[in-house]
Amino acid sequence: MALASSSGPSTERAWWRDAVVYQVYLRSFADADGDGIGDLDGLRQHLDYLVQLGVDGIWLNPCYPSPQKDHGYDVADYRDIAPEYGDLATFDALTADAHARGLKVLMDLVPNHCSSEHPWFRAAVAAGPGSPERARFIFRDGRGDDGATPPNNWSSIFGGPAWTRIVEPDGTPGQWYLHLFDAAQPDFDWTHPDVIGMFDDVLRFWFDRGVDGFRIDVAAALYKHPGLPDWTGGHYNEYTHNRPQVHEVYRRWRRIADSYAPERELTFVGEIWVPGVADLAAYLRPDELHQAFYFDLLKQPWNGQLFRSSIDGALTGIGSTGATITWTLANHDVHRTVTRYGIVRADEPHESLDRNLAFIRPRGEVDTALGERRSRAACLLLLALPGSQYLYQGEELGLPEVLDLPDQVRQDPTWFRSEGLDPGRDGSRVPLPWTAQAPSFGFSPTQVTAEPWLPQPQWFVKYAASEQLKDADSTLALHRRALRVRRDLFSTVDRAVTWIDVPGRDDVLAFRRDSVTCVVVFGDTPLRPPAEWGSIVLCSAPVHQGQLAGNSAAWLHTP
Ligand code: NOJ
Repeated sequence: MALASSSGPSTERAWWRDAVVYQVYLRSFADADGDGIGDLDGLRQHLDYLVQLGVDGIWLNPCYPSPQKDHGYDVADYRDIAPEYGDLATFDALTADAHARGLKVLMDLVPNHCSSEHPWFRAAVAAGPGSPERARFIFRDGRGDDGATPPNNWSSIFGGPAWTRIVEPDGTPGQWYLHLFDAAQPDFDWTHPDVIGMFDDVLRFWFDRGVDGFRIDVAAALYKHPGLPDWTGGHYNEYTHNRPQVHEVYRRWRRIADSYAPERELTFVGEIWVPGVADLAAYLRPDELHQAFYFDLLKQPWNGQLFRSSIDGALTGIGSTGATITWTLANHDVHRTVTRYGIVRADEPHESLDRNLAFIRPRGEVDTALGERRSRAACLLLLALPGSQYLYQGEELGLPEVLDLPDQVRQDPTWFRSEGLDPGRDGSRVPLPWTAQAPSFGFSPTQVTAEPWLPQPQWFVKYAASEQLKDADSTLALHRRALRVRRDLFSTVDRAVTWIDVPGRDDVLAFRRDSVTCVVVFGDTPLRPPAEWGSIVLCSAPVHQGQLAGNSAAWLHTP
C-alpha cells in the first residue's frame, strides 16, 4: 500500500502520533466539592499527578449537561458543562492549567445520538408526526394495524429493541423513534442538514475555547440503511454501522480541524467497532480521522501468539498506510486488564448476549495477583509499540474490576436493559482511591455531603495512589518509570517492528525496534534473554539470576 499523502497540513511529527493520553472518567476521578461525584476542579487538583505520571494529554469522557442516564453519553446541550462537573469558566481554567503543564485536552463528542431531554428531541415529540422537528431524528410509524409493533427488528446495543413508542401530544399512542443505545438516547438523522450544521458549530465552539481534539463516540454508526430493513445477520448490524456516507462527515470535520493549522495540531480519535482492520483503516485515510482505537488487541486473551497476530494485523493494516496506530487495552466500557488477564477459568456468556462480551467483559474465576503481573507486562508491551496509547484511569494503579457491586447500586443502562444478564460497566467506573484514608480514600474531601456515587470496596485501600508512590515496585511506579524511559528510548528509534522468534518458546513475544528489544513472557516458565538483545533497561517483575519471570515483560537495549 502506498504511503499516505495528504492535501492538509503535514502530520509527520504531530504530537498525537506517539502520544500517551490518559482517559479521565470525570465522574470517578476526583471530587472537589464533596457531592460524591468527580468534577473539573477535582481534576485540576490532580493535574500534577498526571504530569508526574508522564502522559501527554487527557481525554475527558462527556461532561456536557445531561440527565446522566448513560453518564454523559446522553447529551442535553453540546455547548455547556454539566453543573455537577463545573461550568464553562471551570472548563476554561482546566484547559489553561493543563496547557500550562504541557498537557493536551481532548473532549468526547457524541454525534450519533443526544439525550431525550435535548431541546430538539423535546420539540420533535411536541410537534407531531411529519413535522420538520421530527425529521432531525428517526421517527417512523409502527407495524401492524394498530402500529404497536416496532418499525423493524433492530436491537439496542444495550439490550431490548432499538425503538421506543411515544405518546403523541394529543395523548394517543404514537410513532416510534430509533435509539441504538438507551431509550434516553434518540439517534439523530444524519441526512438532515441541521444535524450536520450543528456539529460543525459544536466543533468550532470547543476548538475556539482551546480544546485539542475529540474522541468520537460510536463513530461508525451515524448513518443507517435508508430503507431501515430488518437485520437478519449476526450481532454486528451492518444496517446501522459502517455505512459509506459516514466517511463524508469525517472528511468535513477534518477540513474544520485543518483550518486551525499550522498553529494548532488538533486530533480526532474514533471509537470505531468494525469487523476488520481494512474497515478501520478506511477511517484513517489522510483526509479523515487522525486516529482510531485498535480494539482488536483489547479483545485478545493472554496468549503470545494471539497478541502477535493482532499486533501484526495493525502494523500491516494500518501502520503500512502511514496512519498512526492507537493502542489501548482498557476503557470505561470493558473490564479492567487485571481482571481480564487474571481469568483462570472463563464462564460462557449467556447465549442471548453479544459474543463480544466474552472478550471485553469476560466473567469467570479470577486470580488477581496473576492478572496484575500480566497487566504490568502488558503496560511495557504497549508502550514499546510504535503509535499512540490511551491509558484508562486506574490502570496505572493496577486496579481490578469491582465485580461484586450490589445490584441496587448499579447504574449502567446495560444492566437494566439486559435484565441483569450483562452486569455492565459500573465495575470499571468505581471512584479512584487516592489515599488510604476513610472516607472515600481521598476521592472526596473530608467534609463530604454524599458518599461516592458508586461504593468503593474496602480492598481499594491496597491500591491507593499515595501508598503506591512510597513503593518503588508498585504498579504506579512502574508506569511512571516506563513513561519516562519510553521518551528517552523510543522517541529516536525507527518505527519498524522486527519480530524475533525464540526457538521452543511459542509463549514468548519479542520484537526489536532498532537498538531496543521488547520481550513479553506470556507463559509461566522464566526466560534467559540472549546476550545479543543487550542489557535490561526496565522490567515489569524482578529478574532472578538473569532470568525474566513468567508473566512479565522487559525492555533491553544494545548501546
Ligand atoms: C460508547 C461509549 O464508550 C459508551 O460508554 C456509551 O455508552 C456508548 N458509546 C453510547 O454513547
